[in-house]
This record gives sequence, structure tokens and C-alpha cells, in this order.
Amino acid sequence: MRSILLWMARNQWLRERLPKLWFARRAVRRFMPGEDADSALAAAAGFAADGIAVMFTRLGENVTKAEEGDAVAEHYLGLLDTIAERGIDGEVSVKLTQLAYDLDRDRALAHCERLAEKAAAQGRTLWVDMEGSDYVDGTLELYERLHAGHPNTGICLQAYLHRTAADIQRLLPQSPGVRLVKGAYAEKATVAYQKRPEVDANYVALAVAMLEGMRARHTVTLGLGTHDVELIEQIAEHAVALGLDRTAFEVEMLYGIRSGEQRRLAKAGYRVRDLIAYGEAWYPWYMRRLAERPANVLFALRQLLP
Ligand code: FDA
Repeated sequence: MRSILLWMARNQWLRERLPKLWFARRAVRRFMPGEDADSALAAAAGFAADGIAVMFTRLGENVTKAEEGDAVAEHYLGLLDTIAERGIDGEVSVKLTQLAYDLDRDRALAHCERLAEKAAAQGRTLWVDMEGSDYVDGTLELYERLHAGHPNTGICLQAYLHRTAADIQRLLPQSPGVRLVKGAYAEKATVAYQKRPEVDANYVALAVAMLEGMRARHTVTLGLGTHDVELIEQIAEHAVALGLDRTAFEVEMLYGIRSGEQRRLAKAGYRVRDLIAYGEAWYPWYMRRLAERPANVLFALRQLLP
């Protein structure tokens, strides 16, 4: 089921047609408050009341014109202004291929630099998402160049990839920002663990490696981007055993997923951030959410009922 859904996420024919179906549009609302930035900004207020910070991302990937990337960068610059005006405890996470990385890498880096500069002036971190494994080398290379001049930046790393342990060791001396996730794409066994217990074990090992790095006086801005509360609690125990506090990391979850747990963890003293996505180009992103939990397909189909 996961493979089929991830294939559907990449299929151009479906990408053009499925989002037009009314029941799909209704179902996606479970994972995003609306297609425009205003809906996302309005949703942030609800989280603030529960002591939960937010992160915004405008959906879209692999744009085919450089001008589209320029427009996305302008959009995020405006969004940062609005976040500041409204006093929202919010950050922004971008996808390089939405900043036209496929067409012009230096221009994508320049976009990130402008965004990082504005974020720094506001005391925020700019995050860079990780996409499929073909992009990992390039994303890391761009991130290292960006981070050298803009320390207020972070990158997403995926625990399902065999290479991530080595990537973390390379980044640690650079005082990185790292959002650790399990990984959302269809990857081959040559590059990625395929079984959930293997991914989970690697997730804990990688998080602990970063906590040990912190103890060894490396600075790491660490986000655990997972809904796996059991893993989060295991990692918190490791943090305490290492003499760190569980606020050494931030828990990051997606809008609409395990909302009760987000509130419970925030009440229990964890730092929690909810990633609010918005935008019209939600189809591949939504299919990856279905692939993570095939029971979500039933939820989508139930939208067909009156
Ligand atoms: P796992 O899939 O094992 O789920 C643990 C439990 O959480 C499940 O049992 C279920 O209860 C609940 N759950 C998980 N997913 C659910 C869903 N879709 N619907 C309902 N319940 C669900 N990936 C990537 O490759 N690049 C990136 O840049 C990012 N960025 C990112 C940011 C943030 C803040 C988060 C939370 C996630 C990402 N991801 C990502 C996605 C990530 O790689 C992964 O696919 C999802 O987080 C699902 O994996 P979990 O860690 O939640 O564990």
C-alpha cells in the first residue's frame, strides 16, 4: 500500500486530476487548515494558546521555471514580515526544488540567503526540508554553504538513509540545526532501511549521537520531527541520562496529526512545534501523508459519504 501511494504521489497524470476531485479536497483539510497563508496564520493562534510554537511551509516542489522559484522566495519574505507583525512564535521551512533548485542552484542558494538574513533579523531559524535521496548530496552542499554565513539555519535529515550517521558526524563540528525525521519517500534498499524497526532503531541512535555531540560541547539546534511518542520519550530518557534536559530538543509534528499528544507533551514540559502546511500544490505531499498511515486512505474515502 505504501509503495502504491508513493507511486501515486509521483504520477503526473494523477497529480493533474486527483486534486480536482471534491472529496480529495475535503479530505486534505484534515492535514492543512486551508490553501492560503491566511488560514495557516490563523491556525497558529490556536497553538499559541496551548504553548505550542509553529512552523509554516507552503506546499509545492520541483517547479519548472526559475520565476516560480523567485515568486516562492518573495512569498516567504512577506510571510516572515507577517509572522513578525503578528508576534507569532513561528519559523519557516522551505523545499529547495520549490526555489527552482533543479534549474539554478546558485539562485536557490541566494533565495535561502535572503530568507535566512530576514529570519536572523527576527531571531528565527530558517529550515531546509530534505527531499528524495537524489537530492541529499546537493541539499547538504547547499546547506553547508548557507550555514557558513547564516548560523540561524537548519536542515532536515532522514533516519531511513544509511548515510545519515556519517552526515551527522560531518555536520556536528559546524554547529548545525538538524530536524531529524524518519523519511517520507520511496527509497531503494541500497540507500535506505526498509523495515520500520530498523528505521526506528537508527532514529534513536542518530538522536543520541546528536545529544552526545551536545554534551561534547557542540551546539546543535535539534528538532525531532516525528509523531512517534514512544521514540521521543526514549530519546528524552537518553538526554536526561547524559545530563541534559529534555528541552535540549524540540518535538515537531504535523498539523492534524496526534494533536492531543502535541498538547500533552507541551503540558509535560517539552518544547513543541506544529508544522502548518498550506498551498494549492498539496497533492504529492498529501499522498505521502496517506502512505505513512494507510488507515488515512479510509478517512479520505469516507469523505465520499454524505
Ligand atoms: P511513524 O510513521 O512510525 O508514525 C508513528 C505514529 O504516528 C503512527 O503509529 C501514527 O499513530 C502516527 N502517524 C504518523 N504519520 C501519520 C499520518 N500521516 N497520519 C496519521 N497518523 C500518523 N520527511 C522528509 O522526507 N523530509 C522532510 O523534510 C520532512 N519534514 C518533516 C517535518 C516534520 C515537522 C515532520 C513531523 C515530518 C516531516 N517529514 C519529512 C515526514 C517524516 O519523514 C515521516 O514520513 C512522518 O513524520 C511519519 O513518520 P513518523 O516519524 O511520524 O513515524
